[in-house]
Amino acid sequence: VEFSGDSFVTIELTWLGHASWAIKAGDHRILIDPFLNDSPTAPVKADDVEATFIFVSHGHFDHVADVASIANRTGATVVSNYEIATWFAEKQQVKNTIGMNLGGGVDLPFGRAKLTIAYHSSQLPDGSYGGNPGGWLLTIGDKKIYFACDTALFSDMQLIGNAGIDLAVLPIGDLFTMGPEDSIEALHLILPKKVVPSHYNTWPPIEQDAAAWAERVRRETIAEPIVVEPGGIIHL
Ligand code: NI
Ligand code: MN
Repeated sequence: VEFSGDSFVTIELTWLGHASWAIKAGDHRILIDPFLNDSPTAPVKADDVEATFIFVSHGHFDHVADVASIANRTGATVVSNYEIATWFAEKQQVKNTIGMNLGGGVDLPFGRAKLTIAYHSSQLPDGSYGGNPGGWLLTIGDKKIYFACDTALFSDMQLIGNAGIDLAVLPIGDLFTMGPEDSIEALHLILPKKVVPSHYNTWPPIEQDAAAWAERVRRETIAEPIVVEPGGIIHL
């Protein structure tokens, strides 16, 4: 397996709608919170995606729905908190899992993944305890990508930003997570080079004007906003 020490790996990030993301890095195929078959905005179905690693931020339906079917078809390793990783292994027959806890990191063939704090909840769809919700700090080659995932604004985002973030993926949907206003405040703490919005426009209650948000980001922060439609690709 090629190691991540290769700092020239090209990274391609695709928005799969809602809070679902696909990353291509060399031969690696990474998915974040794949929610595809029941998502009104997903550009692909669960049977159409490739994966070597699947990261799961917390236990809610709109983050775990297609994880087991993709993992069981592809053999991908599911990486999540200990409770969710165990649930996938024991209740969904997922063969390869890595259970972590907040603040912990793990070296993987594509780089490093750290489970960061998030303020949210995490119950699994069958009522099982889903541990603490989290975000992900991924290091791939020489790039650091921070997925805040479902969370409120919190001041410790500044500590996460100290790592030097190339791209922050922030929720802007409001209602269930931070909205646009708090995402601007988050950018003052994280200070990423680039930012892309997530967890919005899936359903009417989380509709947002991404163009207006991007204009505010340009005016009020040092981050470069990147807005894509579902299926849109970002190169890092
Ligand atoms: Ni959630
Ligand atoms: Mn959610």
